[in-house]
Amino acid sequence: MKNFLKKLLIFLFIAASIYGVGRLILVTYDSYLHVPRAPYAVMQTQDAITIKWQTPEFEVGSLEYGFFSDSMNTKIRDKKQTKKHSITISGLNECTKYYYKVSSDSLDIDNEDRSFKTLCKNADSQKIWVIGDSGEAGKDQDRVYSQMLKHIDKDFNKLDMWILLGDNAYRSGTQKQYNKNMFEPYKELVKRFVPWAIIGNHDDRRWAFYNIWDFPTKGESGGEPSGSEKYYSINNGNLHLVMLDSEMRRIDANSDMVAWLRKDLSKNTKPWVIVALHTPPYTDGGHNSDSDYDSGGRMKKVRENLVPVFDEFGVDLVLSGHSHDYERSKLIAKHTGKGKSFNKQNIVQDAKSCYSKSIKPAKNSGTIYQVCGSSAKLDQANLKHPALPFAFQEMGSIILDITPTTLSSKFINIDGKIMDEFIIKKDNTSCEGKK
Ligand SMILES: [Fe+2]
Repeated sequence: MKNFLKKLLIFLFIAASIYGVGRLILVTYDSYLHVPRAPYAVMQTQDAITIKWQTPEFEVGSLEYGFFSDSMNTKIRDKKQTKKHSITISGLNECTKYYYKVSSDSLDIDNEDRSFKTLCKNADSQKIWVIGDSGEAGKDQDRVYSQMLKHIDKDFNKLDMWILLGDNAYRSGTQKQYNKNMFEPYKELVKRFVPWAIIGNHDDRRWAFYNIWDFPTKGESGGEPSGSEKYYSINNGNLHLVMLDSEMRRIDANSDMVAWLRKDLSKNTKPWVIVALHTPPYTDGGHNSDSDYDSGGRMKKVRENLVPVFDEFGVDLVLSGHSHDYERSKLIAKHTGKGKSFNKQNIVQDAKSCYSKSIKPAKNSGTIYQVCGSSAKLDQANLKHPALPFAFQEMGSIILDITPTTLSSKFINIDGKIMDEFIIKKDNTSCEGKK
């Protein structure tokens, strides 16, 4: 009997080792497999941008850029032959649109209307498209995308930013899956906008995410230098946008990410603060934030360790995905427990669609939480979380409009219907008379 047990243990150990090594090889292969990729822009700042692309063959690539599509008078070349091209353009004017085109011998590149815009110090208005869990190519993803295009009258000049809330490429965020599920279906957007993407748990299954993207670590795009690509902030016009990694990074109260977040928010001078992270603190959809075990307990950690910081600095809006549905709170604060402990004291303003806050961020002035994880797929959902009264089992995306004193949000479903809409005002006018 003893011998049998010993042999069984040895067998299990060998099987586990083979599985582990096989898995490591697969993850490494999928993460660093070289795939051709059309140019895309990263590291958007007020005076610089980086353009990356991947060619099937080694070559010295080059790009030209300028103020007009028919006269690009500055050319930059790669310093050496490579398949992975990355050219940083610096010395640019702030808040300015530039056109660019990329030349390659081995990759067929569509250069029509290829452009980028530098970040703005000030802006009278900004329109932002927000999608979550969008990484499944197909007709549903197309329809959600088409409704956004319809909303902006197919005029890309009406859009200013694009935010992806994670799970950007199912099933595992591999290099190939990123091409199929993100770069290809959104190619016209990729030609014109920086995809500001955060990591989701599916992207986290491979190591491709931080290989594909370059993010600011030294405060290049605004905000406090983070020293990490996993958390950073962006200042654009009136907006301070904080991007957090809820998947790979520790989110304990004493973690480096939480310490940085406090520092970053304490130094912010922009009137609007939005935080984006994949894992929501509250949801009762495909995932259940009341479960201590769902998603490895990360929803509980977000609630217990990040929500108090959002409260402390009066963050206006927290955007998440993960549950494949749409859910939204009123202006709420100080709720770090499970759903059943949510009560009237947590509601700062008990309105459906109009909220007012002071221009200066104030502690416990309330935050609106939005879950939008249905930009390509839908799950069965209870949608009964007491903190999230506006909830729909609908596919769609969010359009945000920001002025110096207003932030408005629309959740547009797959058929183009506005299912949820609200405004936060910081213009000293009250919401009286509005619902
Ligand atoms: Fe997810």
